[in-house]
Amino acid sequence: MAYVQREAILIKKEKLNSTVFRFTLKEDVISEIATAGQFVNIKCGEKVLRRPISICQIDKKHNCIVIVFEVRGEGTQWLSQCNQHDKIDIMGPLGNGFNTEKQGKALLIGGGIGVPPLLSVAESMECDCDAILGFKDIETTILVEEFSSKCKDVVVMTQDGTYGEKGLVTDALVKKLETNDYSVICSCGPTPMLEAVSQIAQKIGIECYVSLEERMGCGVGACLVCACKTKSKDGEKYSHVCKDGPVFNAKEVVW
Ligand code: FES
Repeated sequence: MAYVQREAILIKKEKLNSTVFRFTLKEDVISEIATAGQFVNIKCGEKVLRRPISICQIDKKHNCIVIVFEVRGEGTQWLSQCNQHDKIDIMGPLGNGFNTEKQGKALLIGGGIGVPPLLSVAESMECDCDAILGFKDIETTILVEEFSSKCKDVVVMTQDGTYGEKGLVTDALVKKLETNDYSVICSCGPTPMLEAVSQIAQKIGIECYVSLEERMGCGVGACLVCACKTKSKDGEKYSHVCKDGPVFNAKEVVW
């Protein structure tokens, strides 16, 4: 796995809602070799472990990557206080991303802060994509316009119906499957959502890839913090979300 540790320059900082930030980081090596679905491990001050944050967009032309993160604790709080022109210590690109080769028609399904990495998939997929994006309410919606400009059709679901349609992404998935012939589903979001999506995909017989979220330490397969159970020829085994994932074939995951 090729990755580097570099100082990236924060060239643009935006607040997408009350807790979610978008940073555009200039860094030539990582932007050159990153692929859709990979992540970077970011040093957030001196006190806390690095924080894994997925790559939302890769701009090879301008040597930039875009990350979108939610302030959840001390590390991300520290990160959110960085300002334009600050240098940020990042390691990456890490993990295995999504397969974006031409493969019929793809459906991207994101939930909450699992939505951002799927934008890099929409931008690099060599085939048409539709997207289903799920949020709690209108206040937490992010990146809808960006997905609308990259995907053929975008359905937004909110749990309280304050934006888009009321319900869960799985409600929209069942509806979409009635009229569409997808060859692959790529999904990222909370684990119960990924499990529900993968069950539906398996029932219908569509290839489904999920990006798992786990607590992480080293980010490169050395500390075992991110272990998850996956299926193997001889039963079950532990895989590293950071090194073997974060993207897995949904059929391999022990939910
Ligand atoms: Fe250390 Fe995955 S985070 S092994």
